[in-house]
Amino acid sequence: MVSKISKKGYGSEKESKFKNIFNKILPEIRPTAEEIEELNAYSNDLMGRLKKVVPKDVEIILAGSVARGTQIRGNSDIDIFLLFPKTTEERLMEKKALVLARKIVKKGYGETFVINYAEHPYLKLISKKLDISADIVPAFKIEDSADMGTAVDRTQLHNIFVKNHLNEKQKDDVRLLKYFLRANGIYGAESRIEGFSGYLCELLICHYGSFLEFIKSFADLELPLVLDIIKGKQIRSADEAPKDIDFFKSEFIVIDPTDKWRNVAASVSRESISRLVIASRRLLDKPSVNNFYGIKYSDENSRSSLSRMLQKYEIDVYAIGIEVQAISEDTLWPQVKRLRGKFSDSLKRNGFEPLLELQNLTKDRAAIAFLMNKKEVHANVIEGPSVFMKKGSYAFYKKHSKGQNMFLNGDKLCSIEKSKYENADALIKSAFKDPSFSFPPDIRKRNCRIFINRIPEEYAKLVYSALLQKTGI
Ligand code: CTP
Ligand code: MG
Repeated sequence: MVSKISKKGYGSEKESKFKNIFNKILPEIRPTAEEIEELNAYSNDLMGRLKKVVPKDVEIILAGSVARGTQIRGNSDIDIFLLFPKTTEERLMEKKALVLARKIVKKGYGETFVINYAEHPYLKLISKKLDISADIVPAFKIEDSADMGTAVDRTQLHNIFVKNHLNEKQKDDVRLLKYFLRANGIYGAESRIEGFSGYLCELLICHYGSFLEFIKSFADLELPLVLDIIKGKQIRSADEAPKDIDFFKSEFIVIDPTDKWRNVAASVSRESISRLVIASRRLLDKPSVNNFYGIKYSDENSRSSLSRMLQKYEIDVYAIGIEVQAISEDTLWPQVKRLRGKFSDSLKRNGFEPLLELQNLTKDRAAIAFLMNKKEVHANVIEGPSVFMKKGSYAFYKKHSKGQNMFLNGDKLCSIEKSKYENADALIKSAFKDPSFSFPPDIRKRNCRIFINRIPEEYAKLVYSALLQKTGI
C-alpha cells in the first residue's frame, strides 16, 4: 500500500479537520479534574503512609504517567518508587521494599495486594473501593545512568526528562498517541503486545512535536529508523551513531536520552511497527473519529462475520484449549507461543501448512488455534542430508530408498514417504500421546483439550478475539 499523502501536500483543510477530531477525542481520554484530584489525593495518602515506615535515607517519588501528566482517563495506575541508597545490597533492598510496602496496605479500607515480578519483585496495591492500583517499586537512587544499578533506576531520570521536555499540548498528544496505539492493540512493551511503552510514546512526541506530525512520518516510514532524542535528529548512518554500540542490530531504535546505551524501542516488533504504519495511513487518508478509534466490531457481529469468512473459504479451525495457573502473563505468554511454534513446525513438516496461527491468554485459560485448509495428506517429502555428508547421506539413502521414491534437491537427498498422518487432527492428537513431545514448564498436557471447529464458548471467545485482533488492520 502506498500512502497518497505526502507531508508537503498535506492541506490546511485536512489539518483543521484533524484539529476538530482531536478536540472531540481529547475530552474523552483526558482524565477528568475529579479523577486527577482523586489520584493526587490517593498517591499523597500512600506516599504519606510510606514516609512513616521507610528509613530516612530512602526517598519516595511518584513516577510514570501519573507523575508526568500523560495518563489516559480511567487507566491511571500510580507508580511509586522507593529510592534506596546505592550502597544497599540489591537483594536486601528487594526484601526491605516488600516488607515496607506490605505495611501500608489497609485491609480495612478494602485494599489488597499482589506481588509481581519485573526487574525486582514489587508490590501492586489494589484499592477496590477507588478502582485504582499502585505499584510500589524499589530502585537505587541515582543522578546519572552511569551510576545505574538496575534497569528500573532509569525511571527517576525519565521523570525529569519528560517533565522538562513536554509542554501541556504535547502531553495531550502523548495521550492521543497512547490511545491510538491501544485501539490498534500495540500499546505496551509486554511480551504479549510487543508494542510501544508509555515512555516511548513520550519520547516520540518529544521528537516529532505532535501526534499529527508523528503519524505523518510513520505513514511514510522507512526502516531502519534511528532517533537520537537528545540531539533531536534522525541518525542515518552508522558513523553518526554513538561509538562502540552495534546500534544497527535493530531496525527501530530510539536512544534513551537518559542513557545512550538503551534502545527504548527494543520491545517493538516488526509486526507492531507495520500495524502502526497501516493505522497511520488509514487515519491520514480518511481523517475521522471512527478511524482514530480503529476497526471496531461488536462481539456478536464479529463472531458471525468471522464464521461466515471461515465457511466461505472452507477453513477448519483447530484449537487447543489450555487451563493455566494464574501466573504472570509475561511468563506464560512466551510459553504458549513456544507451544504454538512446536505444533506449527510439526504441522508444516507433515504437509499441513496453517493459513493463520493464533494464540490468546486470560487469567485461567489459554488457547492456540490454527486455521487450516480442509485437506488430507497422503505423502510427504522428507529432506535428508547433503550427499557430501558421506556417512549421513549413505544412511539416509539406505533407510529411505524404496525404489523411485528418492530425488535430489540440489545436493540434498529427499525422499517421498507415505504420510504418517492423513489429517491434522491425527497429527495433533498423536503429539499429545507422544512422550517425546515436551510441553513448556507451566503448561500441563493433561490440562489441554483439542477442538475442531466446534469450540466451547470459553475457548471460542479467546480464539475469536485473537482472530479479530490479528485481522483488525
Ligand atoms: N519503565 C521502563 N521500562 C519499562 C517499563 C517501565 O523504564 N519496560 C519506566 C518508565 O519510566 C515508565 C515507568 O517505568 O514511565 C512506569 O511504567 P508504566 O506504568 O508501565 O508506564 P507509564 O509511563 O506510567 O504509562 P501508563 O500510562 O501506561 O501507565
Ligand atoms: Mg503507569
